[in-house]
This record gives sequence, structure tokens and C-alpha cells, in this order.
Amino acid sequence: MGRALVTGASSGLGLELAKLLDAQGHEVVLVARTAAALEELASSLRNPTIIAADLATEQGRRAVTDAVDSVDILVNNAGFGECGLFAEIDEARSVSMVELNCEAVVSLTRSYLPAMVARGSGKVMNVASTAAFQPGPTMAVYYASKAFVLSFTEAVAEETRGSGVTLTAFCPGAFASGFQDAAHAGNTRLIKGRSLPSSAELARAGLAAMDRGDVVHVPGLSNKVTAVSSRFTPRPLMRRIVRYIQDEA
Ligand SMILES: NC(=O)c1ccc[n+]([C@@H]2O[C@H](COP(=O)([O-])OP(=O)(O)OC[C@H]3O[C@@H](n4cnc5c(N)ncnc54)[C@H](OP(=O)(O)O)[C@@H]3O)[C@@H](O)[C@H]2O)c1
Repeated sequence: MGRALVTGASSGLGLELAKLLDAQGHEVVLVARTAAALEELASSLRNPTIIAADLATEQGRRAVTDAVDSVDILVNNAGFGECGLFAEIDEARSVSMVELNCEAVVSLTRSYLPAMVARGSGKVMNVASTAAFQPGPTMAVYYASKAFVLSFTEAVAEETRGSGVTLTAFCPGAFASGFQDAAHAGNTRLIKGRSLPSSAELARAGLAAMDRGDVVHVPGLSNKVTAVSSRFTPRPLMRRIVRYIQDEA
């Protein structure tokens, strides 16, 4: 079945994706910073490899590529956000967000894609977000980072079209995971009081999209409507709408 590397496998979507890939018979490689959480997950899987690494650093990314020379499936899922005014958010946190959400995606894809193309088979799933489709006041860096992931994935998917290798940008809306707490997003209009779909539900949708070779997949009707309508909504209006839903309720 081959080897599947999942970043951000210690929690939320990545943890559920790793479980599904293991159940499909893949040899999974689990990557995140929290070794204890990876070990706990690994104890329920068949033949996993654990790599505790900070993917926001070059050293962490090298630890992954030094340990694993090739993969059949690459899932770039690790990511985080932060709510607040850009001018007030800690600079290091904003820069680290770009390093994890964008640089790690570029770096790991560049490391593993050439061998996939040479073999004529392989799958890459990059986890973007519905945030990719518009600018995100009060989450400016996060929304921009996901726009990067979407654009990058679409472009490379076109470059590899017909090669036997597929790239999928998976663009979920909000779902239940550790993300909201880490981003301090719990009190926003977007999240507060809403019952969110589970990470397990989203993992099934993401894996199905990757298996089909979809270049872009937005799960759920209301998210699809949001993504499509953002193309037709004037940008100044779009910015104000997003500011409204991102503000505290
Ligand atoms: N939840 C949502 O509403 C939502 C919506 C759209 C898209 N997304 C995207 O979905 C993806 C998964 O997030 P999630 O919702 O499942 O959140 P989560 O539960 O917070 O999981 C994030 C994962 O990323 C890992 N991670 C964070 N910083 C890292 C670093 N520097 N190096 C390596 N790993 C790191 C975390 O592990 P450690 O802390 O152990 O390192 C964890 O395994 C993200 O790309 C996120 O942007 C989430």
C-alpha cells in the first residue's frame, strides 16, 4: 500500500487522517512536535514511524527528510492560526505561521515530489481552508497563508497533470479540533455557539478527495457557496464581511 507521511498528526484532522491511512493499510509516518501525543496515537496503529519535529524550522524539516527518503502519500496538514490585529500580534508568531503553513508545505513537497513524478505515482494533499478564498482581517496572516497553499497546490497540480501524481488542496471550513483554542478564535462570530463538524468527518472527506485526485476540494454545501460567492463579491465588501464574522460576538 505504500508509505504515507502526515504532518500535524498529534491532534485534530491530522490524527484522524493518520488513523484512516493506517486502516487502509499504509505504513504511516506521524510528524508533529508533541512526541507523547504521537506515541499515544502510534500505540493504536499497525506499523507507524514517529518523528517529533518543529516544522516551522529548517532543522525540523530536515529531521523529517533525513529520516524518510521517500513517500507514496504526503499530507501537509500541520498548521495554526492566530486571531487579532496584525499590528498587535507577536511578530515571531506571525512569521512562524508562515514558516509552518507555507514554507513547510513547499519544502516537504519539493523533497518528495520529484521521486513521485519519476515513479509515475503518488499523492499530495495540502490542507488549505475556506480562508484561502478571501482576505481575513483579524486573521490576516492565516488567511493569506492558506491563499498561498491553494495557489501553490493548484499550480503544481497543473505542472504534474498526466504524470500519475496528483496534488489536492483540501479547503474545509471551521471544524472541531485544537485549532480554535490555539488561534484564540472561540469568541469570534464565526465560531461562538456553533456546533462544528468533527475532525473525523473532515478526514473522511479529505481522503476521498485525495483518492479521487481532486485538485481543489471544498467540503460541505455552505462552504462551497462561500468559496464560489467570494469570486463574485466585490473585494471591499468581502473584506468587511470577513471582518464582521471574525470579530468577537
Ligand atoms: N479546525 C478548523 O476550523 C480548520 C479549518 C480549516 C482549515 N484548518 C487547517 O487544518 C489543519 C489541521 O488543523 P487542526 O484543525 O486539526 O488543528 P489542531 O488540532 O490544532 O492540529 C494542528 C496540528 O499541527 C501540529 N503543529 C502545530 N505547530 C507545529 C509545528 N511547528 N511543527 C509541527 N507540527 C505542528 C500540531 O501538533 P503539535 O502541537 O504537537 O506540534 C497538531 O498536530 C491546519 O492546517 C489548519 O489550518 C483547520
